[in-house]
Amino acid sequence: MESDLDLSNLIFYFLLSGENPELAEFEFQTVFNVLAKGQFKEYAINIFSDKRIIELTLSINTRQIDAQKIVEDLLDRLTQVHVCFKRSLNLDFIKYGIKSYSDLYRQVHKSNLYIQNPEKSFGIIIKRIGIPKGFLKDKSITLELSRNLGAKIQALYPQKKVNLRNPDEQFLGIISEYGFWFGVLIGSSLRKEVRKRTAHTRPFFHPSSMNPILLRTMINLAALKTNDLMLDPFCGSGGGVMEAARMGIRSIGIEIDKRIVWGAFQNLKFFEYSKITSLIHGDALNICISKGSISGVVTDPPYGTAASTKGISLPKLIIRFFKEISPILSSNQRVVLAIPANLEIEEQASEILHASVYIFYQYVHRSLTRKILVFVKK
Ligand SMILES: C[S@@+](CC[C@H](N)C(=O)[O-])C[C@H]1O[C@@H](n2cnc3c(N)ncnc32)[C@H](O)[C@@H]1O
Repeated sequence: MESDLDLSNLIFYFLLSGENPELAEFEFQTVFNVLAKGQFKEYAINIFSDKRIIELTLSINTRQIDAQKIVEDLLDRLTQVHVCFKRSLNLDFIKYGIKSYSDLYRQVHKSNLYIQNPEKSFGIIIKRIGIPKGFLKDKSITLELSRNLGAKIQALYPQKKVNLRNPDEQFLGIISEYGFWFGVLIGSSLRKEVRKRTAHTRPFFHPSSMNPILLRTMINLAALKTNDLMLDPFCGSGGGVMEAARMGIRSIGIEIDKRIVWGAFQNLKFFEYSKITSLIHGDALNICISKGSISGVVTDPPYGTAASTKGISLPKLIIRFFKEISPILSSNQRVVLAIPANLEIEEQASEILHASVYIFYQYVHRSLTRKILVFVKK
């Protein structure tokens, strides 16, 4: 048997959303740095060629309990990740010369499978996130592969029983264009839950409210920790500040329209977030906040028909806001904002803020692609 498994490591795979893999990778790196980096002396993060799977390797010195905790913390925050599973097997199609299903099948049989719990019942789900060139096109392949893997596991551990309905351990296999990843499911992100928190579920509805998944991703990109203080200077009916509250992040929301501030307050009261969130009826261009009091800015300024800029052009509004916020922010703090993709303000804004900028494009619908800008003050 070939021994290609390094047992000195704990290896976890995170399956990223296919919507925007670059954004997903940046979110992962940022949240990992905020939550976990300081806790581990040795770790490695690797992203595979298809940009859909991130491999997190922790050293043997990491206690199982700490590894489990950090993975759970990451899953609690990340919204551009679907699931995390712990490695049992990984086959790179090019490295192993896998060009057909029988090659894959043979390689699965030759390889070591790392099984941690030989007595727990198990189930297997195999998913395809890409079609490998020239083979595995047939849909029944996923079923056949799960049967073969199941047989291999039972041959190794006869006491390990299959239970498809309610297994103690759920194995997940992912086939992409480039490889096969297989392991025990650790958990799912909150993505499905967050998706349900649309503006329609709130007592005060406003059509300008942003998709909660993107709001949560933007808060993650701002590298904010629990108890930090976020500023949302164009807070509208409160989508962003409420998502921050759900992550244990305190916030201040500013809104110029009296009726909308009232609505945001109704929303905060309904979800019981008023204790860690403050709302100000005011102007983002006239902020009375002292330097060092906030931890970062996350915002979705008004554009389109649903939210008004109150007579100023959007580029002017944003540039004037950057002039207002620049003296308040400290080095390494971030400003994350979403604007229409055709608006070119990043050069001027980064000069004002004295910041580097990361840019991500997010398709919304035919007539709107958003640009997510992440400014990091130098
Ligand atoms: C796109 S909405 C924000 C939506 C919010 N992120 C959400 O998901 O619920 C932008 C808001 O900015 C407000 N606004 C416009 N100009 C402003 C200004 N100068 N200061 C503060 N708020 C302003 C608008 O009234 C609008 O409600």
